[in-house]
Amino acid sequence: MIRVEGLSKTFRGGWLNRSRTEAVQDVSFAIPEGRTLGLVGESGCGKSTLSRLVLKLIPADAGKIWFGGQDITAYTTAQLRPLRPQLQLIFQHPDAALHPRMTMLQSLIEPLLLHRLADKEAGTELAAALLEQVGLSTDILHRYPHQVSGGQIQRVVIARALTMNPKLLVLDEPTSMLDVSVQAQVMEVLKQIQRQRGISFLLISHDMELVRHFSQQTAVMHQGRIVELGSSEAIMEAPKHAYTKRLVRAFRAYPLEANK
Ligand SMILES: Nc1ncnc2c1ncn2[C@@H]1O[C@H](COP(=O)(O)OP(=O)(O)O)[C@@H](O)[C@H]1O
Ligand SMILES: [Mg+2]
Repeated sequence: MIRVEGLSKTFRGGWLNRSRTEAVQDVSFAIPEGRTLGLVGESGCGKSTLSRLVLKLIPADAGKIWFGGQDITAYTTAQLRPLRPQLQLIFQHPDAALHPRMTMLQSLIEPLLLHRLADKEAGTELAAALLEQVGLSTDILHRYPHQVSGGQIQRVVIARALTMNPKLLVLDEPTSMLDVSVQAQVMEVLKQIQRQRGISFLLISHDMELVRHFSQQTAVMHQGRIVELGSSEAIMEAPKHAYTKRLVRAFRAYPLEANK
């Protein structure tokens, strides 16, 4: 479904652009249809930058991206437009994800109206059906973000992404702001949806146990590079790279610390 090869991104800044952050360096991976690739690594190692590169939200300095067999590396904004709905991002902060002055319904149908994929009536019908799919009652359709819980917001955000019928869902720490019990529920919803729709997931998380549970393959990122990529089982049970060993050991010793 998605394949990247040699993706790199350096941020420049400071006095005469002399400070450089090599956020992502020479990253390659592929995610087949309906599969999940987990991406783990400590804060600042380049995970979010990589996810933005993959979704073509920021331009790469080097590397190639194929989506559904098409080489989209050099696609212009206009060429990307029809593909945009199929590439969806869900990120960590439930409070920032929805407009505070929009009801759940308004937030849910906004992308449909924006992409002219449905009118208000059809959109409302679809929104209600999708809410049910993510385990929410339609009672919340007319509530504002401050009137629902973080877990409910994250489900609405998932439902909103589903209105676009995505082929790839990038989940950037999707549950790290939620309570542990709510985390599990939201991940179950995601897993069910993946099974029903065959969506590919790039699952970014600090939580190695969560990644192992939900991803067939795991990539370990360190200082902008993927230092190890393999079956999630092998990464956790028999890590090869020194950094992965350290990460696994730290996670075993302080699972909640590493989960911050
Ligand atoms: N827009 C940006 N401008 C400059 N530096 C950035 C920008 N975005 C991220 N960085 C830097 O790139 C590195 C990787 O950041 P990020 O991808 O957010 O890591 P992670 O998601 O793994 O915590 C960090 O050193 C960060 O400060
Ligand atoms: Mg991040």
